[in-house]
Amino acid sequence: MTMSRLPLLLLLAVLASGSAQATALLPGDAARGKALHAQHCTGCHDTGVYTRSNRHVKTVEGLMGQVRLCDTQLKKRLSKDDIDDLVRHLNDSYYRFD
Ligand code: HEC
Repeated sequence: MTMSRLPLLLLLAVLASGSAQATALLPGDAARGKALHAQHCTGCHDTGVYTRSNRHVKTVEGLMGQVRLCDTQLKKRLSKDDIDDLVRHLNDSYYRFD
């Protein structure tokens, strides 16, 4: 009886640690990200794209990819730290993945 529950408990533990990891791994500085955003990121779209009902970013990884993609279009070549800060700011303020 007790043995049959073990796989489920393991699965739950893996799922729980996986979701906790996502934001624990976000290293950026949100305040700095907010300033960077105001400086670089409002030329093509405003913050409405982050909150619209059909927004296409669905995961933290997707957010990282999209910020890099926009940075490429912007031709600013922001540093990895800048990207981290932007992702942290957008996640804290709009996306709230955890
Ligand atoms: C050269 C124009 C341009 C600039 C500058 C730009 N973006 Fe974008 N961004 C886009 C376009 C185009 C889309 C897609 C909009 C759509 O799907 O309607 C987009 C979408 C996004 C999305 C996804 C929104 C969603 O649907 O969830 C994020 C996040 C984002 N941009 C972040 C940034 C950040 C951060 C910066 C500053 C580094 C930035 N963008 C600067 C053009 C730009």
